[in-house]
Amino acid sequence: MDDKNLEKKLPLLSGKGMWHTNDCDGAYPQLHLSDGPHGLRRQEENVRSNNDSYESTCYPTASCLAATWDRELLKKVGDSIGKEAIDADVSVVLGPGVNIKRSPLCGRNFEYYSEDPYLAGEMGTSFIKGVEQNGVGTSLKHFAANNQETRRMTSNSRVDERTLREIYLSAFESCVKNASPATVMVSYNYLNGYKATENRHLLKDILRDDWGYEGVTVSDWGACIDLAKSVKAGLDLEMPGLGKVHLEKLKKDIEAGVITEDEISPAISRMEKLIEKYAVENRKKTGKAEFDPHKTALEAALSGAVLLKNDDGTLPLKKRGKINVIGELARTVRFQGGGSSHINTRPQPNIIDELKEAGFEVNFAPGYRVDTQAVDEALIAEAVTLIGNGRPTIFCGGLTDLAEGEGYDRKSLDLPENQLKLIERMGGKDVIFLSFGGSPFAVPFLNKMKAMLHMYLGGEAVAKAAVMLLTGEANPCGKLAETWPVKLSDTPSCNSNKETSNEIYYKEGLLVGYRHYDTRDIKPLFPFGYGLSYTTFEYSELLLTAGNGNNRKVSFKVRNAGKIPGAEIAQVYVENPDDGFIRAKRELRGFEKVFLNPGEEKTIEIMLDDRAFSVFDTGLGRFNVASGHYRICVGPSSRELPLRGMIPAEGKNYKTDPSGTDLNVFIGKEDSDLDHVKPGEYSVYNSLGELSKKSLLGKIMMKLAIRIVYMVLKKPHDDPEVMMAVETIKDGPLDCVIQQSGGIPYGIATAIVRQANRKK
Ligand code: BGC
Repeated sequence: MDDKNLEKKLPLLSGKGMWHTNDCDGAYPQLHLSDGPHGLRRQEENVRSNNDSYESTCYPTASCLAATWDRELLKKVGDSIGKEAIDADVSVVLGPGVNIKRSPLCGRNFEYYSEDPYLAGEMGTSFIKGVEQNGVGTSLKHFAANNQETRRMTSNSRVDERTLREIYLSAFESCVKNASPATVMVSYNYLNGYKATENRHLLKDILRDDWGYEGVTVSDWGACIDLAKSVKAGLDLEMPGLGKVHLEKLKKDIEAGVITEDEISPAISRMEKLIEKYAVENRKKTGKAEFDPHKTALEAALSGAVLLKNDDGTLPLKKRGKINVIGELARTVRFQGGGSSHINTRPQPNIIDELKEAGFEVNFAPGYRVDTQAVDEALIAEAVTLIGNGRPTIFCGGLTDLAEGEGYDRKSLDLPENQLKLIERMGGKDVIFLSFGGSPFAVPFLNKMKAMLHMYLGGEAVAKAAVMLLTGEANPCGKLAETWPVKLSDTPSCNSNKETSNEIYYKEGLLVGYRHYDTRDIKPLFPFGYGLSYTTFEYSELLLTAGNGNNRKVSFKVRNAGKIPGAEIAQVYVENPDDGFIRAKRELRGFEKVFLNPGEEKTIEIMLDDRAFSVFDTGLGRFNVASGHYRICVGPSSRELPLRGMIPAEGKNYKTDPSGTDLNVFIGKEDSDLDHVKPGEYSVYNSLGELSKKSLLGKIMMKLAIRIVYMVLKKPHDDPEVMMAVETIKDGPLDCVIQQSGGIPYGIATAIVRQANRKK
C-alpha cells in the first residue's frame, strides 16, 4: 500500500456515526451494525433515545434462551433474527453475549447465557450459525471478563490464566472455533492491567494465534480511546466513529512511527473482507412471508420457562373458571431487559388478557407498583381480600426494571420491598407463583407457594406462553442454566469490592456457579440444570465405550414414564479425580434434549473428547489431559445423577497445579493500580466521575451532562434508560463521554485533564 492509499483507507478503522462503518468518501459500501441480541434495535443515526428504534420482534433474552438447552431452537431464533436483519438492511447483529455469570447480581446477566462455559458456548455457537446462515454477521461479545456492570468501563478484571482459559474464555473459544462469527466485540473493562481493546495477549496471542480467528475485532461502543495502541494490540474497528479526533491522532502516530503500516494493513484488509461479505448490496433479499418471528418467539418462551416447584400436582390448572391474579407484573408484564438490547416491540396481550382468552374469569388486583419499591398499603389490602375465596390464586412477581438492567448491578438478591410485604400479608395459602426476571432472586417465601413457574424475560410472547404452560396446553421443559442460591453470602464472589475499587480480583478462581456450590458442598435453592415437568423421566443402561485416544462414547436410555408428552434435557457431568490441586468437583461436558411420548424410550449418545478430561496447562500454553480415573455421571440435573460409571483418561500425571503456581497469583501488568491515580497521571482514560473530584470544570461538566440526560429523556431518574445514561457519564472514560456527547469540543476534555493533574 502506498502512503496515499493508506491514508484513504485509514477511516475503515473507525466507524462513521453511531451505527455505520466508514465508506471512505464513497469508496466502500457502509455496513449497518445493530443491536442485538434478542431482536433488532435498529436505530437511525442521530437518534438520542436508546429506546427509539424500528419496531421488531422481541425474542426471549439469553438467560431464558439458555434455559431451553436447545441447540436447534437457538439456531432457529438466530435464523429468524438474521431474516429480520435482512429486511431491515442490517449487516451485523451485535450479539450474542457469552460472558460467564460470575455473580447473580450482574445487572446484565439477562443478556448472558450461563455460569457454565460449555453450555454458554453451545448456545452461542448455535445462535451465531442461525444468524450467519442468512449472510448476516454477528458480534460475539463482550470479550472478555466483563462480568459486572458497576464500573464496567474502568474496572480491571484480575483473573489468573488457568481460570481465564477454563472458565471465562472457553465459551468464546468454542463460538470462534465452531461458528466463526463475523466480528468479536471487545469489552470496556481492563483485563489484568490492560484495557481489553489494548490487550495484545487477549486479541493476538489468544484470539488470533491460539484460536485462529480471522474475522474483525470491533470495540464495544466507546471502548477504544487510542487507535494506534488498540490496532497494535489487535483491534480492527473502533465504534462508534464520532468526530475525527482519534483518526487524526492515528495519522500523527503513523508519522511519528508509533505504529507502522505493516501493523495497520491486516486490520484494513480484514475490514475490506467484512464489507465485501456482509454489505447489503451483496446479498439477496428474502421476503417476510417466509418466516414467522412471533411464532418462534413463542416457541422459545415456552421452552425456556422453568417449573421450579409443583407440590401435589398443583399445575397444570385443572379447570377453567374463576381465578385470582395478584401482582402488577400480570398487567405490566416484564418480558425484556433495559439497555442496548431493548426492543421496540408491537403491543402484546398481558397475562390477564391471555387468561381471559383461555376461558378464565379473572379477578385482578395489582398489589404493588413496578415503578417504585415503596409499599402501598391500600394496594396490599385490596389484593389480600381476593385470597381465601376458594379460587386458585396466581401471584405474578419478580425482578422489575428498577432492579436489573445494563449499566448497573443489583445490590441484593431480594425482590422489591413492596412485593415482599405483599407476599407476607398474603399468608400461606395455595398460591401459584408465576415469576419474571433475568436472574435468580432469593425466595425465602417458597414454602408459602404451592407451585413456582419461572418465565425469565420471555420476550413478546411470554404472556401467551405462561398461560399455555399454566393450563397444560404445553408442558414445561426448561432447566436452569444457572444456580439459584439460597442467600447472597453463599455466592462465590459475594465479597467483591466493586463498589469501592477498580481492581477486581477473581479470587474464587475456577469455582464459579455450580462448580463452587458442588465443590464446597453448599446447598443451593435450585441447582444448575434443574427443572420439573408435568411428566416424569427415567434413566437407565449407562454404557461407556472407549474410542481413539481419550474419546469416549456415553450412551444411556431415557424413558417418559408419565402420562403426557414432554421433552427431557439429559446432562452428562464428569467428576474430576482428587488430584491434590484445584479442580471443580464435577463439570458439565455434554447434554441432549429429547422429546418423548408417554411410555416412549430413546437411546442418547454423547461423545466426550480430550477436553472433557483436560486442564489448562499454563506451562504448555494449552489444554492438556490430566491422567486419572474420572466418574461419568448422567441425569436430569447437576444434583440428581442416577447413572454413574468410571473411566480412565491418559495424559500427564499432574502432581501439582498445572498453572505451575498458586491459582491466586494474578498475571498481567504487575504495577497497574487503577485505584490510586496521582496528579500528573490523569488522562482521558479516567472516568468523568473520578476527574470531577479533581477538576472543577469536570464537576461542572458532569452535572450539566446529567441534567441534559434528564431533560432529553424526560423520564424518572430511576428509569433504566436514564440510569444507564447517567452511569455512562459518571463511569465512562472522559474520552468516551466527550465523543458521545454530540458536540462538546475535545479541548474541554484536555482542559479537565490538565486541571486534575495540577491539583495536589
Ligand atoms: C453495549 C453493547 C452494545 C453497544 C451498542 C454498548 O454499551 O455494551 O453490548 O452492543 O453498546 O449499543
